[in-house]
Amino acid sequence: ILLSGVSEECEPEWCDSEDPLFILYTSGSTGKPKGVLHTIGGYMLYVATTFKLVFDYHPEDVYWCTADIGWITGHSYITYGPLANGATSVLFEGLPTYPDVSRMWEIVDKYQVTKFYTAPTAIRLLMKYGSEPVQKYKRDSLKVLGTVGEPINPEAWQWYYSVVGEKRCPVVDTFWQTETGGHVLTPLPAATPMKPGSATFPFFGVVPAILNESGEELEGPSEGYLVFKQPWPGVMRTVFGNHQRFETTYFEQFPGYYVTGDGCCRDKDGYYWITGRIDDMLNVSGHLLSTAEVESALVEHEAVVEAAVVSRPHPVKGESLYCFVTLTEGVSFSRTLEAQLKKQVREKIGAIATPDFIQNAPGLPKTRSGKIMRRVLRKIARNERDLGDVSTLADSSVIELLFQNHCCGAM
Ligand code: WT7
Repeated sequence: ILLSGVSEECEPEWCDSEDPLFILYTSGSTGKPKGVLHTIGGYMLYVATTFKLVFDYHPEDVYWCTADIGWITGHSYITYGPLANGATSVLFEGLPTYPDVSRMWEIVDKYQVTKFYTAPTAIRLLMKYGSEPVQKYKRDSLKVLGTVGEPINPEAWQWYYSVVGEKRCPVVDTFWQTETGGHVLTPLPAATPMKPGSATFPFFGVVPAILNESGEELEGPSEGYLVFKQPWPGVMRTVFGNHQRFETTYFEQFPGYYVTGDGCCRDKDGYYWITGRIDDMLNVSGHLLSTAEVESALVEHEAVVEAAVVSRPHPVKGESLYCFVTLTEGVSFSRTLEAQLKKQVREKIGAIATPDFIQNAPGLPKTRSGKIMRRVLRKIARNERDLGDVSTLADSSVIELLFQNHCCGAM
């Protein structure tokens, strides 16, 4: 009865290009999450274009992004970008380790996936089971491998490139943020010579700069704050309900620039290397250290699958390194291993970087997009129980476990 009275035509609703498209919440470094607002025209144009060029999309491709659709990677590169290109996609709801650790490669073969996009945390997780579960499947359909979400340590990059892609597939290490809407620093596959661990160069229309503490632009090889000098179509338009917060968070520290919150290094060839969040920098006895650098040294040890390093206040050194390590299947935590890991970091980076604390972490607190919540780890390192807002956490049961394993050692 209801159907008979309804027209068969449904007129589209015409929208302004600057009308809101969606709001996604992202954690602020302090306290309340921010509602990142994207608009229709610019965002869709940007994700459609980056999807097409960064994954070298062709109509015969079968594309698979393993992200959760409810977060920005799933919005930009499962939903809007691929659909705007009419791409054939695999949508997957499940775990890379269930029913077994070959799950991803089984799906790649089953659907003949050509372009595959995942996160370093997933790569490191699978890496700990070795190459055999990967080699059970052919993967000969694969053409481009992508990564996103955090700096990829060169060891994981090499494994992804050599074992998963058999050195046939370019790896696109795409740097971007919920706020940027789409890729902002990224290689173009087969066109950009790769360097493992570098997101290489800006996408078209993106103009990065590296600033020092006083906001001066640095030229040539340098390290400092990564900022962008001009807007691109996909940049967020406001913090929902709080435009003031948008301005103070992104544009106040260095007037005239969009501040990413990330530290960055530019090498002699002009490649950009994200060194981790600026708020993940720490100062040990007057030396600036990037937590990512220490994490990379830790995960190079065969017993370590994943590491997260945070700062813990130290009466003499100012700050000290508190390291959480997740061990390879079958390896157990011991004093000997702890000593080995300290030695390893000391040898790779220098005496100043010698970790003060190493804690066994069977799991790490992560957001649903797979990012380690260092803010929570900083609290655990200090044995402070007021964790603040943990609503973006994927699994909160790891928290209690980490408090139990806390290294109570004197500061
Ligand atoms: C932060 C943004 C972008 C979608 C998923 C996360 C880090 C992201 C990379 C990369 C080094 C990266 C940055 C950035 N990040 N991609 N390829 N190399 N760092 O979105 O939750 O908004 O996080 O993730 O620190 O600021 P998000």
